[in-house]
Amino acid sequence: MSSIELKGTGQKMPLVGFGLWKVTNETCADTVYNAIKVGYRLFDGAGDYGNEKEAGEGVRRAIADGLVKREDLFITSKLWNTFHAREHVKPTTQLQLDLWGLEYFDLFLIHFPISLQYVDPKHRFPPGWTGDDGRVHLQNTPLQETWQALEELVDAGLTRNIGLSNTSGSIILDVLKYARIQPSVLQVEIHPYLTQEALVSLAKTLGIAITAYSSFGPQGWIELDMDKGAASLFEHKAVASAAQHHGKTPAQVLLRWATQRDIAVVPKSNNATRLLENLDCDSFNLDEEEIKAISSLNFNLRLNNPAEIDPHLAIFA
Ligand SMILES: NC(=O)c1ccc[n+]([C@@H]2O[C@H](COP(=O)([O-])OP(=O)(O)OC[C@H]3O[C@@H](n4cnc5c(N)ncnc54)[C@H](OP(=O)(O)O)[C@@H]3O)[C@@H](O)[C@H]2O)c1
Repeated sequence: MSSIELKGTGQKMPLVGFGLWKVTNETCADTVYNAIKVGYRLFDGAGDYGNEKEAGEGVRRAIADGLVKREDLFITSKLWNTFHAREHVKPTTQLQLDLWGLEYFDLFLIHFPISLQYVDPKHRFPPGWTGDDGRVHLQNTPLQETWQALEELVDAGLTRNIGLSNTSGSIILDVLKYARIQPSVLQVEIHPYLTQEALVSLAKTLGIAITAYSSFGPQGWIELDMDKGAASLFEHKAVASAAQHHGKTPAQVLLRWATQRDIAVVPKSNNATRLLENLDCDSFNLDEEEIKAISSLNFNLRLNNPAEIDPHLAIFA
């Protein structure tokens, strides 16, 4: 399986993984088990997804059945916004590891560069964006404090690599000024409607591996009624004609558009056939012209924008 070597640890991160967001609690353990069975080795989870216990059950069953060993897997999780204060980082990470039934994560990301008021996990976990009153409550924890707490997780062996998600170039450059352990991965929204070329170029220049999320653009947001009415990427001429040319599906073309440029992907599917299809997306190469035609669909359509929850959260402004 193709992979990217991570700066710092030299650990290999698979180029194609499985995204756990919106995988239901009822199906998650079986989905993870079956994904391992068909060859997935990277799982992209988060405290916020609320299914880490079930994902861990799938992993444990696969290990018990001898399908894989722990060290064959690459497990990513993320720290939610309400746990940015130094004193909350380690206990929350430990809580998440316990849910998974793991001793360490391979990668732990700061989910958003947004700090919200602490919510005790005994009260509600995952806590989401708002307090009990349905409103967003900001907290004044600087990102430096959170990053340094993540470095302490590496020191304590709770995660191998650390990284950022949903951050713009200026935040990455700031983190590098104080980082004792540099971010090894940046996970951001990237698809042909939001190509983020400048950010991709910055991360590559700095040797930070990139993971694209929402590779199918609006498709993953339809079930939340948050697709912004954007036309399906699967049917777009540039995508459909490349698919026809290579005898692949439009989904495989969208994933290859990223992986061919060393951008990792974490597609999510609740369907066994599509799960396999997505994993098998690097057995062909798109022509340079096809990549250009697909990239030219960009119109800076950002589907995941916290400013739409509260204008104080305009991190991409
Ligand atoms: N860091 C962050 O803030 C952040 C934000 C968003 C997402 N993510 C990560 O990225 C992962 C993926 O992103 P996403 O969930 O937005 O969406 P996605 O993977 O781009 O799209 C998922 C949607 O596409 C469908 N699909 C999957 N494979 C397909 C195929 N081969 N052909 C046709 N349709 C297909 C799925 O339906 P079926 O399930 O029915 O197949 C689902 O509706 C998440 O699970 C999460 O791990 C991270």
